Amino acid sequence: MCGIVAYVGLNPAFPIVIDGLKRLEYRGYDSAGIATIEPEGDLVVSKKKGKVADLESHIGSSLPVGSVGIGHTRWATHGPPNDTNAHPHRGASERIAIIHNGIIENFAAIKESLKCRGHNLLSDTDSEVLAHLIEEVMDASSLDLFDAVRAALSQVVGAYALVVIDKDNPGRLIAARKSSPLVIGIGADGSYYVASDATPIVGHTKNVVYLEDEEVASLDLEEGLRIRTISNDIITPEVHALEMELESIEKGGYEHFMLKEIFEQPQSIRDSIRGRINLQHGEIKMQGIDDHWDRWENASRILILGCGTSWHAGLVAEYLFEEFARIPVEVEYASEFRYRNPIIRPDDVVIAISQSGETADTLAAIKTAKSIGAHVFGVCNVVGSSIPRETDSGAYTHAGPEIGVASTKAFTSQVAVLTMMALHVGHRKGNIPQDRFSRLLAELNNIPELVEKVLGQASRIDVIAEQFANAENALYLGRGFQFPIALEGALKLKEISYIHAEGYPAAEMKHGPIALIDDDMPVIFIAPMDDVYEKVVSNVQEVKARGGRLLGVVTEGDKDVAALADHVIEIPRCDDALAPLLSVVPLQLLSYRMAVLRECNVDQPRNLAKSVTVE
Ligand code: AGP
Repeated sequence: MCGIVAYVGLNPAFPIVIDGLKRLEYRGYDSAGIATIEPEGDLVVSKKKGKVADLESHIGSSLPVGSVGIGHTRWATHGPPNDTNAHPHRGASERIAIIHNGIIENFAAIKESLKCRGHNLLSDTDSEVLAHLIEEVMDASSLDLFDAVRAALSQVVGAYALVVIDKDNPGRLIAARKSSPLVIGIGADGSYYVASDATPIVGHTKNVVYLEDEEVASLDLEEGLRIRTISNDIITPEVHALEMELESIEKGGYEHFMLKEIFEQPQSIRDSIRGRINLQHGEIKMQGIDDHWDRWENASRILILGCGTSWHAGLVAEYLFEEFARIPVEVEYASEFRYRNPIIRPDDVVIAISQSGETADTLAAIKTAKSIGAHVFGVCNVVGSSIPRETDSGAYTHAGPEIGVASTKAFTSQVAVLTMMALHVGHRKGNIPQDRFSRLLAELNNIPELVEKVLGQASRIDVIAEQFANAENALYLGRGFQFPIALEGALKLKEISYIHAEGYPAAEMKHGPIALIDDDMPVIFIAPMDDVYEKVVSNVQEVKARGGRLLGVVTEGDKDVAALADHVIEIPRCDDALAPLLSVVPLQLLSYRMAVLRECNVDQPRNLAKSVTVE
């Protein structure tokens, strides 16, 4: 996600802000920018696609000297990475500059109304709309920036963490947040700092105030720190003493990025759903499908391409699309597809899934499919990466940067988006009765809360991990929607703990793998109470009879598997089609803890890269 750094004080802002942006680089970004108000009163903005170092090279040796400045590292959500879309953004009269982290859901409507009033917006971003809106409120009323920001934000739907500076008031920063964190630092010399997390601040001061949702702060060298709510209630700032060390803050206090990203899943799934589920109207909004509805309506087959974890998300999607859209689905390893002589028909719809958007095999497979005239829809996490630029349409997963090589939050966000796609196509094709559709929407919307409950078992899972950490092999077994999760759980374990693990359809055991069972073999069954539960219980009994150390991922209150397994991890009950979003989480935590116990390099496992950009 984006990074925000701002400073107002007695010293030049530039070095403080640039250093702060470098401390936020771990968050992942594609462009960077900075704005300062110079002593002569000019608002100077420099911004560049690329890294902070590229921004510094772009600025050159004549550094800004102003003592108020805002800086931003952009993780693109609206509009590809380029100089124009980089932050800060200015308003129409170039009096104010803004930096923003979050998603303004109603930005298109606001943008249209601003254009009707003569505003000329230069970028594709939702953030620039905010700058114009705030400035318009200031110009149309006697409100100063503090009140104008509050008034403007009362018109906004979505998530924001933002900082605004005003060249007519160079001794002040205005900050606001909703669903996207902001930390205020209070310097001993009366200076103020604002940042997305404490990383850029902790080297300057340990005294911080955490802005809460729908709060706006004025940080003024003369008037001090004032906080109001959007509805203008006065808030008394609560100052905290920072205790974390710099290194741990980058990981949000977690030992590894992978663990942080596992725990980010309630929020990353919310962000994937945000603006796409409308419970009130009982509908899903997937613009990338609706813009090409004829292709989906007349699709004779859906071909899903991906690698690794993304391929597993594709397997979940196979069950989802065949269940809800009643369209035949084939899931292919992109690396195999691209070198075969595949049969593709022009009425095929291809879904290409990739977290990084740069996987060479997936990109090449897309080009093969497109060359034969298929419609290609991309499901990707990195805005503006190669795959979204190559596909005919698509949907971003909005999971935020995933730093750990082992994919976790990106996978659940992929499955969330694919679930919405399958439901949307099925609903538009009239395959899903409205009451079932509305119920599934409500359940999907509540999945983040259920993931929170599963995460609450992390300490129990840690204890179970100790029982299995010395294993040399492991088997993951599931049926139906849970078969892809068996594969994903096995991949997680093998790629970070280096234990040889295999995922299988549970019924497949009888066709060979059951020969592997002995008293030492850990067997992880993913066995929620779904349509095939009884069949899986039989498989558990077959394995139990031959030894094996059994762990069951089961529905809360399960008795049958619990009576057979050595350990069980419970997940909340939900619709079969949504259960993969819950059942994968214990497997992520289990593999993480086993890898830590084996002292493996969890975030950068040996031989692996986060994005396989070569064949
Ligand atoms: C998953 O944990 C691995 N990092 C790997 O299998 C990954 O899913 C695969 O390389 C595909 O990457 P992509 O989603 O960025 O295309």
